[in-house]
Amino acid sequence: MTSEPSQDTPSRPAQRGEPVSLSTALASFTDLWSPRIVTSVNDYDVRVAKVEGEHVWHVHDHTDEFFLVLEGELTIALREADGERTVTLPKGSVFTVPRGTQHKPSAADGAAILMFEPTGTLTVGDRHDKVPDHVDATTGHALS
Ligand code: NI
Repeated sequence: MTSEPSQDTPSRPAQRGEPVSLSTALASFTDLWSPRIVTSVNDYDVRVAKVEGEHVWHVHDHTDEFFLVLEGELTIALREADGERTVTLPKGSVFTVPRGTQHKPSAADGAAILMFEPTGTLTVGDRHDKVPDHVDATTGHALS
């Protein structure tokens, strides 16, 4: 057996960021349905958003979408092969919307959520209904 050079060369330099308080991050903006990127993991963004009311039906053709509810309660309507259903996510719950599944998040009484998805993923997906004015079609904003 011969000795090989290390294969685990990082694809990019490690980030030298600072710790991020999620409560501080959430307190730094008021926009609804307009995620802020709090950090990244490999090719994924970790985003937080404040939400209230309804988002828009949309689908991500190439990626799952992970949700963690930080505050309040999030509802996600899903259109699946056997029909439409709704999942309710209380604070502390996680849920993954599978790629290719139409979904519409909503929060009647408001919520704060964390999402984990590939960098560049649009909030309104690859296909969507008409985007209402209160929904920000974005790949996420930097924290200010
Ligand atoms: Ni989505």
